[in-house]
This record gives sequence, C-alpha cells and structure tokens, in this order.
Amino acid sequence: MENLDNREVIINVDHLTKDYGYGRGVFDVSIKVHKGECYGYLGPNGAGKSTTIRHIMGFAKPQKGSITIFGQESFRNTDKLLGHVGYLPGEPAIPAGLDGRGFLKMMQDMRGEKNEDRLNYLLDLFKLNPDMSVKSMSLGEKRKLAVVAAFMNDPDVLILDEPTSGLDPLMQEVFIKFIIEEKKRGKTILLSSHIFSEVDATCDTISIIKDGIHVSTFKAEDLKNRELLTYELKFDSLESLNKFIGDKNNDIKTSDEAKLTCLVTVDRSKTKEFLNKITKYDVKDFGEIPFTLQEYFMSFYKEEKSFDGLSGVRGNTK
Ligand SMILES: Nc1ncnc2c1ncn2[C@@H]1O[C@H](COP(=O)(O)OP(=O)(O)O)[C@@H](O)[C@H]1O
Ligand SMILES: [Mg+2]
Repeated sequence: MENLDNREVIINVDHLTKDYGYGRGVFDVSIKVHKGECYGYLGPNGAGKSTTIRHIMGFAKPQKGSITIFGQESFRNTDKLLGHVGYLPGEPAIPAGLDGRGFLKMMQDMRGEKNEDRLNYLLDLFKLNPDMSVKSMSLGEKRKLAVVAAFMNDPDVLILDEPTSGLDPLMQEVFIKFIIEEKKRGKTILLSSHIFSEVDATCDTISIIKDGIHVSTFKAEDLKNRELLTYELKFDSLESLNKFIGDKNNDIKTSDEAKLTCLVTVDRSKTKEFLNKITKYDVKDFGEIPFTLQEYFMSFYKEEKSFDGLSGVRGNTK
C-alpha cells in the first residue's frame, strides 16, 4: 500500500504552544496531515483539541511554533482558507433569528460560492429540513445545519472539531460513512474526537493528546497489525495453569486461579511455536484478545507501566 507520508503535506502544525497558565493549553504540538489522509486527533475534554484546531483555522496566533495550510500561514488568513477548507467548530454559533435556509444562504454569500446540487445532496443525506427556524431546531438539528454549511462548497480540506457530538447513533453512522466517502473522493480530513469507534472507522493516522501534550502518534494500521498479540488460555486444572505460569519463557500478563485462565503475550512472528507449545499443556480453550484503540488510549490514562505491550506501534511515544 502507498505510504501516505510520501504525499504532499496539506496541514502543518509545527511545534505549536499556547500556554493558558495553570498547565492548561497545548504544548509543543506538531501535526502533519497529508493529502488524502484522515487524521484523528483523539483526547478527552480539556485535552487541547479545540485550542489546536482554532489555531489551525487562524483564529489565534501561536505563542510558539507555526501553522500552515497549503504552505500558507494560517493566522489572519482564515478568510482565504475558507475557500478550500470546510470547518466545523466544536460549538457552532448559528444566529437564532434565521431559518436554516437563511443561514446557508448567508454562508454561501460570505464565501461567494454556490453549489446547489451538493447542498441538496447533503440536506438529503443528513435528513435536515432547512425551512425550520434556527430557534426551533434541536441541538442535533443545529449540529446538522453546521455540518451541511461546512461541506456545501465541497471543500478539499475538512477540519472537524468533534463532529458527531450531539448527533444520535443513526446520524453518527451516516456521518462516519460520509467521512469514508469523502476520503475516497480524495479529501484531506482532520477530525478531533473522544469517540474511539469513529476514529477507528475513519482515520489513517491518529494522535493521542493528553493535558495539551501529544503522547503518541501512530498509523491506525500499525495498531491493528501489532507485533505483540495477547491470548487468553483456559486450563483443565490449577496444576497445569501453575505449570504454564511457572515456565519463565512465557510472558504472562495476568492470571486468574479461580477461572483457571491466564493472559499471555506472544510475538506475532512466534505464533507457530506458541501454538505448538500449548499443545503440551492441558489447555482447554484459547483465543486472541484483540487490542483496541480504546485499550491503547486508556494505557496513557492509567499507570505509566502499562505502556508495555505496545511494541509494534511506531510513533513518537514519549
Ligand atoms: N481562552 C481560554 N482561556 C483560558 N483557558 C482556556 C481557553 N481555552 C481553553 N482553555 C483551557 O485549555 C484546555 C484545553 O481546552 P480545549 O482546547 O477546549 O480542550 P478540548 O477541545 O480538547 O476539550 C482546557 O483546560 C481549557 O479549560
Ligand atoms: Mg473541544
């Protein structure tokens, strides 16, 4: 498969720092989003996602570092950027005095561009009635209106701050499918999220941000094809469980005497030897425990020592 990193860099955040004091803000954050890539920016509330994205959009000047989109500095260039970039803010502000269509028209006029086919396609896809007044719209409907406004010019670059928050599960599904379609159409996408499933389903590259600091940047594929696998084994007797645990060559993570089970990590390249080995013990059952994005993410929010089991994931894990 083609290495996305060889493609043109569209969004380049280079050592961005914004210090709000009291340990808040973002610190030395670097992001490169390549053409046609979907980049996931994953972190809980308060991690610094919106701060980073607002800087990318050029609303704020970096205290340190620099940000370019299409090679052009983004600060104070938001107006020019909006011709190529669809931006969905974390908290969209929509004037309450308008109806949906009035808002969409206002956005079209501001950008000096109209694409009615695309607009109608999006209204249909997200099942939004634009003739309602904004005041009478639910949070989800306002969110959908902001989504339609962000996409209706069919921009090349999509910057989405927690795009599915406020959408119901059905609409979240629609949205995820839409992102995957947009990627197929060659769009470059940066999305922030705290929802593992949507990042997992859409993103090629993922950065985990914690307390304003990037703790890991990696390819989604590398996480799926990790070199270390975890198996759960169930034994016939305590004796055979203990015999297996007692073998110093086995890399045991945990064991449960009551259930007669243990978790063992195995290097992917040693799978065959491992399968041969377990036939020599009274193993009743065994299965692989898939390693998920959620598990990887959580390892940064638990004790430091649970960083083991991550080898095979490339990245700037600090
Ligand atoms: N304008 C601001 N002034 C002071 N602190 C801020 C400001 N904006 C954000 N913060 C703080 O910076 C941290 C990161 O916020 P934010 O980027 O909104 O996080 P996220 O989008 O990941 O939830 C939070 O602790 C937040 O309280
Ligand atoms: Mg936010």
